[in-house]
Amino acid sequence: MTSFRLASVSLFLLLLPTGTAFALSGDAAEGKRLHQANCVGCHDTSVYTRKQRTVHSLDGLQAQMSACSHAAGKKLTATETENLVKYLNDEFYKFE
Ligand code: HEC
Repeated sequence: MTSFRLASVSLFLLLLPTGTAFALSGDAAEGKRLHQANCVGCHDTSVYTRKQRTVHSLDGLQAQMSACSHAAGKKLTATETENLVKYLNDEFYKFE
């Protein structure tokens, strides 16, 4: 019984949003999947948290996204971009 309760509590915590005050639209889970599929070939996620990171705003993040997808030769749809921005911002940048 106790372990069942523990399991439901951890499930609940897993399902909680990652805690950003700003509600961007987009699907972070889908963004993460897209990121895995399209982005980690050139860099891993450490570029998003390094000290000298170059992105300092949501607009900058959007601009970097199009620069990178251009470099990758991949055309992201508006929805894909939205999902990626949502994922990167929720997980790493946390711009408001
Ligand atoms: C063709 C190679 C390539 C691909 C594929 C690529 N990137 Fe990049 N990305 C780069 C390079 C190069 C940099 C700059 C790294 C540096 O300055 O050290 C960069 C930097 C970034 C930054 C800025 C990090 C910072 O300093 O704040 C973001 C955000 C980013 N990429 C997102 C993405 C996303 C999202 C994708 C997938 C859609 C992606 N990248 C795919 C090459 C790529």
